[in-house]
Amino acid sequence: MFLRAAALLSSLAATAAQTPSPTASGWSTTLAGTPTSFRSVFTIPASADEGADLLPNINDPAAVDAQAVCPGYKASQVQSDERGVSAVLTLAGAPCSVYGNDVEVLNLRVEYQSKDRLAVTIEPAFLDASNSSQYVLPEELIPRPGAEDGYGDLDLKFDWADEPSFWFSVTRGSTGDVIFTTKGTHLIFEDQFIEFVNTLPEDYNLYGLGERIHGLRLNNNFTATIYAADVGDPIDRNLYGSHPFYLETRYVNKSSSSSDGGSPFQSYSHGVYLRNIHGMEVVLKPTNLTWRSLGGSIDMFFFDGPTQAEVTKQYQTSAIGLPAMQSYWAFGYHQCRWGYHNWTELRGIVESMKAFDIPLETIWLDIDYMDQYRDFTLDPVTFSPSAVADFFGWLHGNNQHFVPIVDSAIYIPNPTNASDAYDTYMRGNESGVFMTNPDGSQYIGAVWPGYTVFPDWMSTNGVSWWVKEMVEWHKEVPFSGFWLDMSEVSSFCVGSCGTGNVTMNPVHPPFALPGEVGNIIFDFPEGFGVTNATEAASASAGASSQNPPQPPATTTSTTSYLRSVPTPGQRNVNYPPYVLDNVQGDLAVHAVSPNATHENGMQEYDAHNIFGHQIINATYQGLLSVFPGKRPFIIGRSTFAGSGKWAGHWGGDNASKFMYMRFSIPQALSFSLFGIPMFGVDTCGFNGNSDAELCSRWMQLSAFFPFYRNHNTLSANPQEPFRWESVASASRTAMHIRYSLLPYMYTLFHSAHTTGSTVMRALSWEFPNEPQLAGVDTQFMLGPSILVTPVLEPQVSTVMGVFPGIIDGESWYDWYTGERVEAAAGVNTSIPAPLGHIPVFIRGGSVLPLQEPGYTTTDSRKNPWGLIVALSSSGDAYGSLYVDDGESLEPEDTLEIVFTAMKGQLHVELQGGYKDTNALGNVTIMGVTGNVGAVTLNDLSVESSKVDYSQDTGVLTLSGLNDLTSGGAWQGAWTLTWAA
Ligand code: NOJ
Repeated sequence: MFLRAAALLSSLAATAAQTPSPTASGWSTTLAGTPTSFRSVFTIPASADEGADLLPNINDPAAVDAQAVCPGYKASQVQSDERGVSAVLTLAGAPCSVYGNDVEVLNLRVEYQSKDRLAVTIEPAFLDASNSSQYVLPEELIPRPGAEDGYGDLDLKFDWADEPSFWFSVTRGSTGDVIFTTKGTHLIFEDQFIEFVNTLPEDYNLYGLGERIHGLRLNNNFTATIYAADVGDPIDRNLYGSHPFYLETRYVNKSSSSSDGGSPFQSYSHGVYLRNIHGMEVVLKPTNLTWRSLGGSIDMFFFDGPTQAEVTKQYQTSAIGLPAMQSYWAFGYHQCRWGYHNWTELRGIVESMKAFDIPLETIWLDIDYMDQYRDFTLDPVTFSPSAVADFFGWLHGNNQHFVPIVDSAIYIPNPTNASDAYDTYMRGNESGVFMTNPDGSQYIGAVWPGYTVFPDWMSTNGVSWWVKEMVEWHKEVPFSGFWLDMSEVSSFCVGSCGTGNVTMNPVHPPFALPGEVGNIIFDFPEGFGVTNATEAASASAGASSQNPPQPPATTTSTTSYLRSVPTPGQRNVNYPPYVLDNVQGDLAVHAVSPNATHENGMQEYDAHNIFGHQIINATYQGLLSVFPGKRPFIIGRSTFAGSGKWAGHWGGDNASKFMYMRFSIPQALSFSLFGIPMFGVDTCGFNGNSDAELCSRWMQLSAFFPFYRNHNTLSANPQEPFRWESVASASRTAMHIRYSLLPYMYTLFHSAHTTGSTVMRALSWEFPNEPQLAGVDTQFMLGPSILVTPVLEPQVSTVMGVFPGIIDGESWYDWYTGERVEAAAGVNTSIPAPLGHIPVFIRGGSVLPLQEPGYTTTDSRKNPWGLIVALSSSGDAYGSLYVDDGESLEPEDTLEIVFTAMKGQLHVELQGGYKDTNALGNVTIMGVTGNVGAVTLNDLSVESSKVDYSQDTGVLTLSGLNDLTSGGAWQGAWTLTWAA
């Protein structure tokens, strides 16, 4: 087998150039004969993507403190009844016009909306269409939770007062704890600046406010900017998605009741969602949090929990929607890179994965497949349409899938070159689906193909145009889902830089692509210098000779910063007076400019953060048209609160560093809170070169993330798992566990989809009585039952980890041996973890449904079932299994199976009509004490040759049971007995 694999590897390296073939007269491949090695002549100057010199307010010593100069509001016409409070808020003094135009009169509306939700809304009182400087988010864009019955049971109380100006607080009635209060501060409400300050307890535990690369718990001296940005995963800065939601957890010492020996603590969690799509900042200080938005209104929802699980369910079920159910195949392994050059190379990758016996479910293509980086095309030479039938016949015949990248920007063809015509643009332009400049002309930015336009998802025909493009393109390229990129929405120049320049198209982006001159990749993971000293030395020499250091950026004196001041009655959308701490500085850098305009008159300023959400929605509709009745598969880069109901997300452009592997856990856990459980990162790292050690660790870690994909940047060293034998072997080990656990993962997803429960979980959520877990994000739980403690640093063979819950009687079993872990409560324990081994533990009290892994998920679904019964210290265990056809949006039949183990018996009960004919192959019971008696399944006895029990380890293994349930394990209820 390995000889064959080695031969394949060398044939991959020597992939022959494809013979150019005539373009098929297809729907979208319009550029017959264009040379594949497309490099445009004109490169957009780097200066085109430089914005104004701005100093973020939070760093500006000269910035005015709105709290010091603004008067706040006074309440009048207050009315309250059992459903809530309403009042008029009037400016309590002269307008301060600090960062915008003060809104003199506001309406306050407080609603006790349901048994677990309170809403506080403050918006301009006289908002009408003629006042374009004020903005209230329409419900058609982002749904708003409404009032329900049962509100009488709500445990949250609203209070307000007018001293020194209007403030309000929200209190948890049952404990008297004030969970939110603006007492002692002013409310500031201007057309371009809203500010309110919430006092918090010291050392608060606050989570969410994404998207960013940061530990799970947010620091209390930190500014969380929320502004969708195309940027390669900087730490602590704003990133692709916008999630104005936080979870706060408070621990209470209930020491009086600690005499039972359990944890003396109890926690209470609540959630806060600000339904606002503007650029914003949340400034976290040691005892307060200041929320600042560049517009919109205050539309806040308080979820009372009181556990994290309940907060997350309340947030999803009422506010943002439950996550999409994924198809079974989506949980298989995905292989991707920027830089697969042609169909032959791609096929070689798929074949190598097979030759090395590493499961591959889906092969992906980056922008390389496109004709000159234009959406809905194929490169006529390297990804010739004439090879499509052959390639996909073969791929689909293996039960494997294909997902292409699709970019958000649309190439605008050169009007002076008839052969540059591009049908997707033409059809869109005729239907008026692209954003404009304020004067009505087309807004033209730049992305990979050159100068581009940008779809307006709010235009009359925007979504239907996109859906049609997808449907027609699928006839040419049979994709299984879409990977949506650059959707912040990214543009590589400031403003409508293409205006007047389109005759130069196609043009090159204003920076070197990876691998181009000045951008050769010499970077390696942290441990590379130790494991590969010689190579590391030559890489560092290469780096200094080929990527010469750039002259230091010229320092600008503070006097040259652009500071805008409010203009009465008008907004300055490109340079709002309040300067956000945006990672790109100027709001228009690497993004479509805030003054780009939509058909309905809305400016990007008001809609920037939802472009990614809207393209996901349009794509969801497109996939429903392509695959009627089937679950759409979308992985999107920019997301907003609620995107999870249509799509998953990947963590963006991380780097091949241990540090980024470590951050993948808090990023995933944050997305659990945001209702996007289908999450994974670029495994083995995107930017930079990976190495065997990092890739081995990372392939093993990501095997426990819902979305499992290896992706790499252009020109970096290859990092598919078969490239190093150690990584191949580590991947096989971890994938064997993952594929065994697919029924468990799928069941978790179904539960997330139907109830809002989470898939990847923080330890503090599963063990809410242990304050020391509040910041733990180096370990995580997959569902309630699997604990993963990965190695996250180079050159070690042990990892420190805690075994949570032991203080409350929890027990843990080693996945590999089935033996009970001897660990003390609350002690950080050293766990053996040589390269190739990822520590995984099973929580006592769990029944895990398994299925014997096949090469693909299609194969796995035909294999015998298995069960792990991990007994709790009192000898019981519970679990469930959900089964359906794996792909229908609304399956006709389903099966829901409940497992209950106690007193030496396992009872299986089921409901539903879905027919599954796979037998039960084996059962492993962990934590068995004392003697084992005759083993029976209902009345049938299990031969002693199939029973293996070790009193030392407490593991009872029953194997080869298939005959006992030959018609299928889930034909009817049964009981397995092993008790003596
Ligand atoms: C940016 C994406 O984040 C990355 O994953 C992709 O490889 C490049 N664009 C090229 O398409």
